[in-house]
Amino acid sequence: MVYMGTQITDIESMPSGGPDASWLDRRLQTRRLEYLDRDDVEHRKRAVVRSLDRFGRFFGHHERFARLALDDVADVPDPKILELGSGHGGLSRALLSLHPTAQVTVTDVEPTSVAAIAAGDLGDHPRATVREMDATHIDAPDGYFDLAVFAMSFHHLPPALAAQVFAEGTRAADKLLIIDLPRPPAPLHIARLVAMLPLVPLVPFAHDGFISSLRAYSPSALVALARHADPAIEVELRSGGAFNSPLVPRPQVVVASWRGRQLRKRH
Ligand SMILES: C[S@@+](CC[C@H](N)C(=O)[O-])C[C@H]1O[C@@H](n2cnc3c(N)ncnc32)[C@H](O)[C@@H]1O
Repeated sequence: MVYMGTQITDIESMPSGGPDASWLDRRLQTRRLEYLDRDDVEHRKRAVVRSLDRFGRFFGHHERFARLALDDVADVPDPKILELGSGHGGLSRALLSLHPTAQVTVTDVEPTSVAAIAAGDLGDHPRATVREMDATHIDAPDGYFDLAVFAMSFHHLPPALAAQVFAEGTRAADKLLIIDLPRPPAPLHIARLVAMLPLVPLVPFAHDGFISSLRAYSPSALVALARHADPAIEVELRSGGAFNSPLVPRPQVVVASWRGRQLRKRH
């Protein structure tokens, strides 16, 4: 379904469940930081990045997300793709192996992650460029990329910055693809949190997964964030689902584009 609409003003206080979130849903949110967002827990942060890569490979997330991204540039012969919040490079690696001519810019805001990616195979890949980049300030001219993809990362940003990702992603790329954790209905969300809770103090990945779940945006929140960024951003919500397991999530998929660029290209 495609949504467009008017801007809302008080975005920073919008609940993660969206402007229409229920009383219970509004209790299931946090502004607490994940290890991944902190500068004082480097060891745990690295453990989470390694786990994300391992789980992504084991459950096929990297390849699955790469196929979703490539579907969106199927009509572009040699697509230029920007990966934001790459973490470990797994998705970019899959993009490069699945598409013979795609040029991929692999980025993350976290310098240590970028250095680790650059030191590996992607650092030498002839069709990859590895760079530090903030998804809220994309260092590229308007429309430079055919696609920007931000996987399992959008929930890290509080509302005002998340809206900025919509603005920047649809400015720098023809399409912005956001793949993120789904936000289940409140009763199921509680069940998921209770199942995760025992591992939270023991396993860094579970700690971050628990916080991620509380920070995940609902479909109505995603639409409100895009509207806040610019009412001319079109948002297509593709999936997500209530019955997700923490290990095999059915992701929430959002494709956004700035309508002005489509009109400009047509004329
Ligand atoms: C949960 S990890 C996801 C990593 C990888 N995309 C995946 O799917 O496994 C979130 C990533 O988003 C990055 N991140 C957080 N805020 C960001 C921002 N403002 N711009 C770019 N990346 C950001 C973090 O450094 C981290 O690598």
